[in-house]
Amino acid sequence: MKKNILLVAGLLAGAMLTACESKKAENTQTNDTLKIEQSVFGKVSDSTNATLYTLKNQAGTEVKISDFGGTIVSWTAADKNGKFEDITLGCDSLAGYQKGVPYFGALIGRFGNRIANGQFQLDGTTYTLAKNNGPNALHGGLKGFDKVLWTATPIDGDEPALKLTYTAKDGEEGYPGNLSVEVIYTLTKDNSLKIDYKATTDKATVINLTNHAYFNLKGGFNSDILDHEVTLNADKFLPVSKTLIPTGELKAVAGTPFDFTKSTKIGSRINDTSDEQIKFGGGYDHCWVLADSSKNLKLAASVLEPTSGRFLEVFTTEPAIQFYTGNFLDGTIVGKGGAVYKHRYGLCLETQHYPNSPNQASFPSTVLKPGETYQTTTVYKFSVKK
Ligand code: BGC
Repeated sequence: MKKNILLVAGLLAGAMLTACESKKAENTQTNDTLKIEQSVFGKVSDSTNATLYTLKNQAGTEVKISDFGGTIVSWTAADKNGKFEDITLGCDSLAGYQKGVPYFGALIGRFGNRIANGQFQLDGTTYTLAKNNGPNALHGGLKGFDKVLWTATPIDGDEPALKLTYTAKDGEEGYPGNLSVEVIYTLTKDNSLKIDYKATTDKATVINLTNHAYFNLKGGFNSDILDHEVTLNADKFLPVSKTLIPTGELKAVAGTPFDFTKSTKIGSRINDTSDEQIKFGGGYDHCWVLADSSKNLKLAASVLEPTSGRFLEVFTTEPAIQFYTGNFLDGTIVGKGGAVYKHRYGLCLETQHYPNSPNQASFPSTVLKPGETYQTTTVYKFSVKK
């Protein structure tokens, strides 16, 4: 209690300081460093606030991240005329996120994507999870990493960073092991947002961390993403069942609407319901297996929005990427600045291991054991193509 009062007092002081300091900063900051600003984002409980951190670089990019869910709340990128606009879907306030939006910008864990029937076995024990997506478990459970308050440490510099830590308890959301997680977001000089994930456990567990940003590179949030042109460096994808659980097959994309090996407009084949997989996903909601299965940081995907010229590249150390085209958005969510998020108004590129890996022995393992360190990196890099 006392700690919380101190925290609130600290935050208030912090908010006041930020106002004063940012003024001062105009005069004293070095050429490269823009101080990370903090503001109160909303109340998590009577005595605890969530904070919003603003990371800026000299190129003019601004990324706002909250310690609630480690959520990317906004992210600006320049178009071909140098105009910066917010290109991620989200809410204006914490209350919006608390109402339960579909993971806008959030960190996802302990296990991103689906686990069939909300169950898996590890070392002879059956673990049961909440079935929060039809018959399956999705994105870490009822209160996954997207809905917890992380401990944040802002790191000022010419490449400002926000370190977030969270310890998930043994048994939390049904998963075994106390899991200590560290995520560092770094805004680089070249307009990349680098996300470094790290975790250790005291008992064997399963883990699949990702970020769930929804992008609309056109800006303005008043159009769908069907004109965006996507490349996925993957010649196979994972076909799914009706409830979006991988069948176990790695299917060649060649000759299917899932072939994005060459830059292709999302809309050109998304409604090709003669393809059963398109029907099951209601569009694209599948995991692509990257051609380079190494743990090196490699280019996994790129997206061009032709009218603005905004170009996004996604690099990752992960073996796969879930490409989701916002098929479940239906206009019932009113987001930032009153924007209505309609069908397919955002796309997600979630780097990860394969869905349902804990139940698929043939998939790369997602088991983390005591003494091991889980470590992955994903980079979202913005530039412009004229
Ligand atoms: C899943 C979708 C789901 C969305 C929001 C994506 O990762 O693949 O099926 O609707 O997250 O929950």
